[in-house]
Amino acid sequence: MKYVFGNWKMNMLLDDVKKFSKSFNAQKLPKNIKYGLAVPYVFLHQMNQLVGKKCDIGAENTSFAKFGEYTGEISSEMLFDQGVKFCLVGHSERRHKLGETDEEINEKMKRLFEFNITPVLCVGETKEEYEGKKTKRILKSQLQKALKGINENNFMVAYEPVWAIGTGLTPTKQEICDTIGYIKKVLSLITNKDIKVLYGGSVKPENVKMILSNNVDGVLVGGASLDAIKFVDIGKNLAEE
Ligand code: PGA
Repeated sequence: MKYVFGNWKMNMLLDDVKKFSKSFNAQKLPKNIKYGLAVPYVFLHQMNQLVGKKCDIGAENTSFAKFGEYTGEISSEMLFDQGVKFCLVGHSERRHKLGETDEEINEKMKRLFEFNITPVLCVGETKEEYEGKKTKRILKSQLQKALKGINENNFMVAYEPVWAIGTGLTPTKQEICDTIGYIKKVLSLITNKDIKVLYGGSVKPENVKMILSNNVDGVLVGGASLDAIKFVDIGKNLAEE
């Protein structure tokens, strides 16, 4: 089983959601591929109703707080109430554009576990860190800090080099294979369960086969997940492997 998870980010309007769902539902999905789609909060309910039977619906973020006086925040309990199956945590845009800290990420992981929502923990190095050969050090630190004090093992990790997100650039197949191997080694010291690790960053139907090796459990797709045909095609191409 391989995973094709999408991340809509801050895109789409009601009309687009309807068009996407119609096109998604009209397609035959490949066997052995699990589709998931992280969507803005405002579409969670509708997307669950429209495509929830064929695709797990997830959130892009959750609050570190449980409930109460946090105007504008959305709790993990609210996500659970909406039937949300998974939630992205620590996406690089939140870390780098919105100043999300490792401590907040750790709290968010804990909130999601309280409601049995699978966190998809996003980790990745910046261009400077990549060029300075600090990738492994950064990834280890992000993983250890996010998982501090956590004994749960129902989570996934998405390795997304910051410099590959939305740029059209990707690491080589060998680099992705080695880095994901390293992430799995670090995870095996933290938990004894086989944690699924996805790759994300400029994944498209055309390159998915070129960049994925056997130790990669699937992909997290941004831009190409806005188009239902491309999104499904990524899974079809992966299923051919
Ligand atoms: P991209 O985004 O596929 O548009 O590069 C990936 C992500 O941010 O999850």
